[in-house]
Amino acid sequence: MQVTVIGTGYVGTVTGACLAYLGHQVSCIDTDADKIGKLQRGEMPIYEPHLEELLAEAAARGGIEFSTDLGPAAARSDVIFIAVGTPPRASGEANLSYLESAARSIGAAMDGERFRVVVNKSTVPVGCGNLVETLVREGIRETHPQDEKRIRFGVASNPEFLREGSAIADSLYPDRIVLGAEETCTLETLRELYAPIVEQRFEAPADVPRPAAMTRVPLVTTTLTSAEMIKYAANTFLAVKIGFANEIANICERVGADAKEVMAGIGLDARIGSRFLGAGLGWGGSCFGKDIQSLLYTAEEYGYQARLLEAALAVNRAQRQIVIQKLQERLFILKGRTIALLGLAFKPDTDDLRDAPSLQIAERLLQLGARVKTYDPIAMPACRAQNPELKIQYCESAMAAVTDADAAVLVTEWNEFRDLNLAEMASRMQQPILVDGRNLYDPEEAQRAGFTYSGIGRSVRPRPGVGRGRTNGAPMSAIINNPVK
Ligand SMILES: NC(=O)c1ccc[n+]([C@@H]2O[C@H](COP(=O)([O-])OP(=O)(O)OC[C@H]3O[C@@H](n4cnc5c(N)ncnc54)[C@H](O)[C@@H]3O)[C@@H](O)[C@H]2O)c1
Repeated sequence: MQVTVIGTGYVGTVTGACLAYLGHQVSCIDTDADKIGKLQRGEMPIYEPHLEELLAEAAARGGIEFSTDLGPAAARSDVIFIAVGTPPRASGEANLSYLESAARSIGAAMDGERFRVVVNKSTVPVGCGNLVETLVREGIRETHPQDEKRIRFGVASNPEFLREGSAIADSLYPDRIVLGAEETCTLETLRELYAPIVEQRFEAPADVPRPAAMTRVPLVTTTLTSAEMIKYAANTFLAVKIGFANEIANICERVGADAKEVMAGIGLDARIGSRFLGAGLGWGGSCFGKDIQSLLYTAEEYGYQARLLEAALAVNRAQRQIVIQKLQERLFILKGRTIALLGLAFKPDTDDLRDAPSLQIAERLLQLGARVKTYDPIAMPACRAQNPELKIQYCESAMAAVTDADAAVLVTEWNEFRDLNLAEMASRMQQPILVDGRNLYDPEEAQRAGFTYSGIGRSVRPRPGVGRGRTNGAPMSAIINNPVK
């Protein structure tokens, strides 16, 4: 099929690449000429593992082009995706100006030659499907009103669930595809588009293998409104789940329990599930905070106070301050101290810094008079470019960042930080203080390496080794070493 994707950010570029990889002919459009220039030259404007290789394959299969000119692409397309940003306004309400402009431009570019489906992939407040339809019609009326009766199109909501860092696998092997639409012909067009994924009838990319036993992807069809609500419900549930783990971890820390053991213990309950229970210094990223705020705003419009969602936001805000409190407890004075932040990206395997805890922590430390050194394997150029006012020292390695520091804070659990030589790290520091904001290290091992260690909700009391906490014959340590995030 002929497809246009509007917006070449984290979602649009990956969506376009995957659809072209499946054999569709794809045009990716963005108003940012710089981004489009990079993509045309084969340079990646974002960091996403294996995206470069997938784009090369996509070009050879269905074909993929990048342009700032929507008109010709929309004219030949069967399906037009909107994947532009919907950032929050100060009030929490989603800023729909990019969506509105994209929808009007689609209207302006349409003709009566074929039936087209306009698909909203951006995360938008409930009711935006209708808004998109209205704006496309307005775009038609404003530019070529004489064609209005001849132009046929349907609007669908197709929320995106990809996670940055594993976006390609999430797109090719999703847990489900959600399609919300009011007319059968709109749904049929999208069923055809997604058939290769639903039936898993494509050769898996070499770098992104198909999960074992995956044969079919569930396709959920709903009304427009339910599809829009599914996206918000999914993200707010995940944010609440992590918030819950953090709340329990904070209590664990006070009573001397170990949050990792507790989460492993509850995660084995099938009703709870083991994923997204990792306590830490709070979630970040472009989606959770913005989507909770947007849903709160919608609820308020209907006179409903969503108390659980308010609490999830409050718990997360407080969680980021825990690092500062822990540093103050150990160093007392932060003025003039040097703090090393390991990791900047809001999570590993991305360069995305939107709502990253690292930035808030760095700003607070600077306000308190500390000096901040940092190292991140990928996100340092983006951080430098996006935060020129942030007076932090960028280092070439984790070891360089911790050298002569008074404390180190593990902010992002990049894989390369798992293998750091903790004893060497401790020996390079002024004071071997480690605040493990992601519970990456074993508290006892860190202490043996010479650190004064503090995780989130972790017990550092000596524990008896043998015969403790066995489940089905497996030592508890083996169970808790399985990632719970
Ligand atoms: N990033 C994620 O992990 C993720 C996951 C699921 C859903 N989403 C949702 O998907 C949407 C896009 O997110 P993103 O992270 O890819 O955003 P992004 O900011 O990385 O990219 C958006 C792109 O849209 C472009 N754009 C804006 N207005 C345009 C217009 N009128 N015409 C053409 N291009 C235009 C911008 O220049 C930018 O390149 C958001 O609504 C987000 O909530 C994001």
